[in-house]
Amino acid sequence: MSEFLLSRLRKRAKRGQPIVSITAYDYFTALLAKHADADFVLVGDSLGNVIHGAATTVGVSLDDVIYHTRIVCRHFPAERVVLDMPFGTFKLEAEQTVENCVRAFKASGCGAVKFEGANNENLFATRILTEAGVPVLGHLGLLPQRVHADGGYKIQGKTEAQAEQLIKQAQALEQAGGFGVVLECVVPEVAARITRELSIPTIGIGSGNGCSGQIIVVHDILGMLPGEAPSFARQYADLFSAATQAVDAYSEDVRQGQFPESTTTEDQSGIYGGSAPANKVGPAV
Ligand code: KIV
Repeated sequence: MSEFLLSRLRKRAKRGQPIVSITAYDYFTALLAKHADADFVLVGDSLGNVIHGAATTVGVSLDDVIYHTRIVCRHFPAERVVLDMPFGTFKLEAEQTVENCVRAFKASGCGAVKFEGANNENLFATRILTEAGVPVLGHLGLLPQRVHADGGYKIQGKTEAQAEQLIKQAQALEQAGGFGVVLECVVPEVAARITRELSIPTIGIGSGNGCSGQIIVVHDILGMLPGEAPSFARQYADLFSAATQAVDAYSEDVRQGQFPESTTTEDQSGIYGGSAPANKVGPAV
């Protein structure tokens, strides 16, 4: 029996358990999240950074996000997959935002959508979507889609005025029907204050441990890419080094005639990506 996202989050709140979330973009990352029994995954527009290798998320399209979300929904319980609306698809007239969200929700099969910011259009769209049956996760604090306008990635809520504004925005999202709010790079004391003020959960990233739960970009904790991960991400593995060593070793073996080992005619068939057919679902996306 499927477990819906909102009931799962309520259960966590009732038991006083922190919510665990992580990003996922494909079969591999969805399997990792499923193995860890994450409460939900976010198909983040961070795919612009970690999948496309772009400097910002602003070039990500709605079709990109739908495509990746469809894949993730096949390998992680779809009811607990949140689709991140990319730049230019919300903060529009509420009707247009709603139309884009409904399109993404239906085409991907996910369980909820998220968008950045709490201006009036977003709040209005949150209300309409929630009433229509599309759960909405808010996102406040550092808004990566505004990087050009804001002049970089900076910690948020440093002054009392900024803290007050964040609290008001979070309350407005809750009143509009949002089921939770991501707090990105918010001063930890302010994030904890927002968490106390709300009855919906806060999901922190770079905002300290006073939130109801945490989310992180999976590549940043796995060391999947070269270069520095954000300072708030703890690195649990160094997959980029392990993978480059493996691919270098393979290349060297081919160059030296060491791979493959023989020209046997025995049956050497198999399925790309390992024989775990139970995990491999359906035709190509
Ligand atoms: O796009 C993303 O992955 C996000 C998380 C970092 C919260 O918005």
